[in-house]
Amino acid sequence: MTDQNKLFITSALPYANGALHLGHMLEHTQSDIWARVNRSLGREVRFLCAEDAHGAPIMLRAEKEGVSPEEFVEGTRKEHWHVLQGFNISYDHYHTTHSKENQFMVNKIYNRLKANGHIETKVVEQLFDPEKKMFLADRFIKGECPKCGAEDQYGDNCEVCAATYNATDVINPRSVISGATPVIKESLHYFVNLKNFEDMLQDWMNKGALQDQVINKLKEWFEAGLQSWDISRDSPYFGFKIPDTEDKYFYVWLDAPVGYLGCLKYVCEQNGEDLEDWIAPDASTEMVHFVGKDILYFHSLFWPAMLHGSGIKVPDSVFVHGFVTVNGKKMSKSRGTFINASTYLKYFQPDYLRYYYAAKLSDKIVDLDLNLEDFVTKVNSDLVGKIVNIASRCAGFINKKFAGKLSSELHNPELYQQFVDSSTEISDLFIARKYSAAIRIIMALADNANQYISDMAPWQAIKDEGRQLEVHQVCSSGINLFRILITWLAPVVPDTAKKAAAFLNTELNDWNSIQLPLLNHEINKFKPLITRIEMKTVDLMIEDSKEDLQSLDEQQPELTGPLTDDPISAEINFDDFAKIDLRVVKIIDAQHVKGADKLLQLTLDLGGLQKNVFAGIKSAYKPEDLIGKNTVMVANLAPRKMRFGLSEGMVLSAGPGAKDIYILEPNDGAQPGMRVK
Ligand code: 2FM
Ligand code: ZN
Repeated sequence: MTDQNKLFITSALPYANGALHLGHMLEHTQSDIWARVNRSLGREVRFLCAEDAHGAPIMLRAEKEGVSPEEFVEGTRKEHWHVLQGFNISYDHYHTTHSKENQFMVNKIYNRLKANGHIETKVVEQLFDPEKKMFLADRFIKGECPKCGAEDQYGDNCEVCAATYNATDVINPRSVISGATPVIKESLHYFVNLKNFEDMLQDWMNKGALQDQVINKLKEWFEAGLQSWDISRDSPYFGFKIPDTEDKYFYVWLDAPVGYLGCLKYVCEQNGEDLEDWIAPDASTEMVHFVGKDILYFHSLFWPAMLHGSGIKVPDSVFVHGFVTVNGKKMSKSRGTFINASTYLKYFQPDYLRYYYAAKLSDKIVDLDLNLEDFVTKVNSDLVGKIVNIASRCAGFINKKFAGKLSSELHNPELYQQFVDSSTEISDLFIARKYSAAIRIIMALADNANQYISDMAPWQAIKDEGRQLEVHQVCSSGINLFRILITWLAPVVPDTAKKAAAFLNTELNDWNSIQLPLLNHEINKFKPLITRIEMKTVDLMIEDSKEDLQSLDEQQPELTGPLTDDPISAEINFDDFAKIDLRVVKIIDAQHVKGADKLLQLTLDLGGLQKNVFAGIKSAYKPEDLIGKNTVMVANLAPRKMRFGLSEGMVLSAGPGAKDIYILEPNDGAQPGMRVK
């Protein structure tokens, strides 16, 4: 930590085309706790975030929804901001990268980079969709892997053999957007010459503000050699036009981090402050970015280089965290563990998850497992059983027997002092982002406080007329210990702290204030601050998250994973089973479906009657290989309206996925229309 008092903190800007989920909330919670701790320690904080608005995926998504990209982004920005507020993330402002402030900063940075000789141009060959009339980013191309021949692979890497390659090398490429065969076309691109910044980046890396794992990664990149960075994209593109060009736009990853400064500029204008006081190279401010491990490259190479090359102060720290797993596995839509932040808020207060994350977060780049049973146990035992318990054990006596007023002296000032003496260690741990270590100390002190109350047993002493003063002082000590604990925890559990502040009749946002106890101080009636949670509510949340998937399935059915990975569904009885009408069918036609990644359109003959079915087996079968085969279908499934048309049943297939999906092929003697038993 530096001695600079002004602190500019950011979280990675969420993309405007997806809902926030519990993975996102790890970062927003981590940065929010850090911002709140710093505020409580008296630092001047600007804690900022924004919507990451630009890029082709957002442009195409808006087109699909039939709205302008601006409208689309503003809609998502409002939704995201609503959810972030629901989690009590205390951003001072939540902006958008599609703003005039950001455009101003982007142009300024680009013009300075250009004037300083860091921009170069080069003609590049790229795949172009002749129908959609746009250049295609790698993710918009699919085809056969040039190394192993696997079908249906993206334009930059193969999920089957893990090869990486250029999109122009993909065999039989097709545009994911229109289905057309792309052509190779030339285009002039703009690059930042990253090599110019190697010395500066080495220097920055050695300044000591980065985690060891980040430094190691940077060293690897230096060894591999820094490549020039392509910062331009051709029209059509939703973004900012590059100055002095007709149809070139800044790549979204150029203007996204500049969005941090665009937001700061907006806030400075609102506050009548000078932005330069924050971002001049010699500004006495600290600039800190919280990011996930997946976007380290952008934040530890491109971003400091851009800032330095345009005469702006470089980040003081880039704090990197791992991903969230749920119950030890990657979040999964089929298991219901891909939980949207808004779904969580339907079932739980934000403090439970905030506390759980804090209790497990360290300064290391490791994944954090949200074990849902542990989540329930931990928040119940720590927040309800330890912290709030202290207040509830003492408050009744103060409220009922001592007119709601704390005593003029503590019964055990030494214990109070022991708590106060731990404060620096706790704040240092929070500042070092070792939240779990800080929480361990807080909970150990909570155990001490509970033990003290148990030892003093005020519920016994109160029966003795001669021990009334002792009870008053013991309970006042307990309330004062609770006040310290909840002051330390306020950045983690702000809702609970707000209720505690109302009960204690005092503010809890200044860590210095705990030096002195509350004496002769009137408190309010105690109301439960936080209630226990139950596993059955977690189960409901999981079920609800599975429903999210069902609506997604309506658009594009997917095969679920292998059985070992996917628990067996609820039992059905024989009558339920008997309702399923399984029939042998002949596949008389199979076609690609325009715009669908996974589906084939099958025409099935049931022995006279024909049915149209969309089946998610494209990764395993070429349409022509299916024609003439017999398979089995669920013939009495109610038709489902899908994006591509009506699907009138389902064909049965099995396998782990990708190329290994096998339709069920009955014996040769099977005739279309036969019932399968
Ligand atoms: O990875 C992401 O979700 C990006 N939207 C993060 C951008 S962070 C910053 F650079 F703006
Ligand atoms: Zn391959």
